[in-house]
Amino acid sequence: MSYLIVACSLNPESRSLVLGRQAEKLLLAVDADVDFMNLRENPLPFCDGDSVYAQPEVISAAERVQKADGILLSVPIYNYDANAAAKNLIELTGKSWEDKVVGFLCAAGGHSSYMSIMSLANSLMLDFRCIVLPRFVYATGESFEGENLTDPEIEKRIQELTSQLIKIALSLKTN
Ligand SMILES: Cc1cc2nc3c(=O)[nH]c(=O)nc-3n(C[C@H](O)[C@H](O)[C@H](O)COP(=O)(O)O)c2cc1C
Repeated sequence: MSYLIVACSLNPESRSLVLGRQAEKLLLAVDADVDFMNLRENPLPFCDGDSVYAQPEVISAAERVQKADGILLSVPIYNYDANAAAKNLIELTGKSWEDKVVGFLCAAGGHSSYMSIMSLANSLMLDFRCIVLPRFVYATGESFEGENLTDPEIEKRIQELTSQLIKIALSLKTN
């Protein structure tokens, strides 16, 4: 089974990146095959719906999505939604998302944006028939000290999310 974690923040001090790295650590601890795509280090062009699909970095991103059985998107919440870089990745790689199991790790400024990931979740379900994990991680600044995640409750939630990702991806693959 192959898993892909996409860190979608372009901020050099990203907290969602920390969430994604924690999920990676847990997946590696159970010997899972994990690919980590950091959009800050693998910049992608804006989707123009046309010639951009032929660019090598877009083809490579689509291949990495395609190869994964399960995907975790670690995303910053911007303007009550996932950030634009996350949406741009999905616009660029479209059909590669078909039938994937997808989970979310969200970093936000406050608690009132809790349901902001739903718009992206809906689009993945309706456009690409992704199986979206109903359990997701949502963390605010209080859960971090500098670059470190210091909240045991969030750590537990990441553990539960990675376990559920493996369980569902595995059962869909074998059935
Ligand atoms: C342009 C912008 C818009 C934001 N909009 C929201 C928002 O709607 N709700 C919220 O809770 N936090 C919002 N925030 C705060 C970010 O979610 C928070 O800084 C989070 O840590 C970003 O993730 P990152 O650290 O991985 O980049 C916003 C931040 C920026 C820069």
